[in-house]
Formats: sequence, C-alpha cells, structure tokens
Amino acid sequence: MGSWRAASTACGNRCPFRIAVREPGRLVFRGAKPGPSVRKTLYIQLLLLTVVIGAITFVISLVAISWLPTVASEEGKRIDDIYLFTSVICIGIFALVAAVTVYAVLKFRAGPGDMEDGKPIHGHTGVEIFWTVIPTILVTVIGIWSAVVVVQNDDLPDDHRIVNVEAQQFAWSFSYIDERDGLNGMQVGELVVRVNEPVELHMRSPDVIHAFWVPEWRQKQDVVPGITTFYRITPTLEGTFPIICTELCGLGHSVMRNQVRVLSDADFDAWVADQQQAVDSGGATLGQSVFQNQGCAACHTLSAADATGAVGPDLDSVLAGQSAEEIRQSIVDPNDVISEGFAEGVMPPYGAVPEDQLDALVEYLVTEAGG
Ligand code: CUA
Repeated sequence: MGSWRAASTACGNRCPFRIAVREPGRLVFRGAKPGPSVRKTLYIQLLLLTVVIGAITFVISLVAISWLPTVASEEGKRIDDIYLFTSVICIGIFALVAAVTVYAVLKFRAGPGDMEDGKPIHGHTGVEIFWTVIPTILVTVIGIWSAVVVVQNDDLPDDHRIVNVEAQQFAWSFSYIDERDGLNGMQVGELVVRVNEPVELHMRSPDVIHAFWVPEWRQKQDVVPGITTFYRITPTLEGTFPIICTELCGLGHSVMRNQVRVLSDADFDAWVADQQQAVDSGGATLGQSVFQNQGCAACHTLSAADATGAVGPDLDSVLAGQSAEEIRQSIVDPNDVISEGFAEGVMPPYGAVPEDQLDALVEYLVTEAGG
C-alpha cells in the first residue's frame, strides 16, 4: 500500500480519486478507486473549464479585436481562411491544456506541511495515441491546404497586367509595360492598379535584398539582386494601401515605404489617360507628372508643385542658380553633392527613370526653381 499513500497524500482529501503506479506503463486506480459518478463529475468539470477558457480565448482572438487589416485581395482571402482554421485549432488545444492545468492546480494542491514528492506516473497508451494522432491529422490538413492555396495563388490567368518593380535602398519605383493602355515604359513612383484585375509584379533590385509586402493583400515576396522575382495578386478592394519593405536592407529600411492605389475601372482609365497625356505633351507638363509620379513631393518642398516635404532639401532654395546639368546630376547621383544639413545615402539614385521623363523633370525643375 506504500505507493498508494504517497500518491494520494499529495492532495489529501481534496483528491477526487487516488492514483498510483503498480506496474510501469499503467495507471492503476485502487483503494478509493473513483466510481463512475466521481469520474463523470471530473470530466464534466474539465469540459466546463475547457469550454469557458475556449470561449474567452475565442472572443479575444477572433471576435473582439480585429488583429489583421481588412483583407483586400483574392489571394489574401485564401490565406486568411487557413489562418482562421489554424487559429481555431490553436484555441481548442490551448483551452484543453489550460483547463487541465487549472484543474490540476486547484484540485491536486499539496496540503499544508506536505513536503513529499508525488509518485512518478509513467505512460498512458490511450492518451499518447490521442495526442499523436489528432495533431498529425490537423498538421497534415493544414499542410495540404496550404500547398493547394500556394498553387492557387500562383496561378494567374493569361490575361493579366504586368508591372515592373524596382526596389533599391530605400525606395520603390514602378514602370508599366502594358502596351494595351499605351503605358509602355511609363515610370511612376507609386503603384496604381485596377480593382479585380490580376497583376503580376516583376521585381528586381540593383543593390541588396528587399521584400515587397502589402499587409491588406497578405502576399509577400523577396526582391533579390541578380534575379527577377514575381508577385501575383488580384486586388478586390478599392483604396490606398501601404507598401512596406520587410527585409532589413540598411539604415533607411524603416522608411522604405510606398503605397498602392487600387482604382475602379473608370478611375484607372482616367489615370491611364492622364499618364498618356503627360507623356504626349512632353516638356514641363510631363516634368510635373514625373515629379508627382516619382514621389519627389514626399521628401522635397517645391512651391510650383504644392509640395511641402521636409525630409530632403527645399528645392525652391537649393536649386536656385543651378544649371540643368547640375540638377540632372543630383537626380541620377544624389550623393555626388550633398546639401548642408542632409545625410548621404538617404535619397536613392533615379538613374533608371526613362530618358525622356528625366529630361522633362530636369526641364521642369529648371523652369520652376533653378536657372
Ligand atoms: Cu528595403 Cu528594407
């Protein structure tokens, strides 16, 4: 009876039943072996605890707080479904483990002055099969489902738009090569896409590894020097969403942000017409479009463009007296001459802007602020 006492005194009279190990590998109930009603009470209490803890966790994690930004793409919805399924599984397992823990802490507490160790309990085949088989099934389901979603999300219809993306320390630029819209070669500083139209981004980096991420779209992809990586997306929600670099790429990594505008059919067509008109008109009009498109206004002040950025030098004053060559040099190689009070390496070189657009930008800046 020695082993009985040791096990049962650990919780004294509060034990709903007494357990002890008589043979290795088996839990044996004896003496005050729990009758069916005691075991039933235990299971009901455990079940109630599990339900209560599960409900609280469910409400906090999936109902009361919206942890994720609104999903805004076809691909994102599929990813969210898996995420939801995985979360529900995690909540269930957490609730069960927490319930058993809380129950054990409350019921099997050592009595006052009881310093004795509890008896080691070894093995329970039923429980081991349960906690091996169930997780195996769940993980397999998640794995297969994820593989299916990866294939679905990679599968774009033949008729999709292509946008070239260049990521460099520490800016994004986009050029449109879709000849249907006459956007061939137009380079812009923010991504503009049509709602419900599949897009494939062809992404390149001239310097280090960056990563393209739009939280509302869920998909994420690295941009790696030397290769082209692809990002496929079908935006389902109109609006303006942030583009965030998620690869630590240098000192300016945290400010390597941009935005994507998802437009309705009519708005997108109007935007395309604006771009075409700007290209066709050339000169300072195109230059102003390039200034806007390249996002110059985000960092620079230029009264002619109603730009009030303060990250970089105020163009109204620093360009005064500068020639077209000097201004062009500052755009394609910003580190050549650094204005007083500003750090080197903050502005990326804009040498990849198509020649005619660069000419127009320089002309615009000379007209408005330089000369
Ligand atoms: Cu680019 Cu971080």
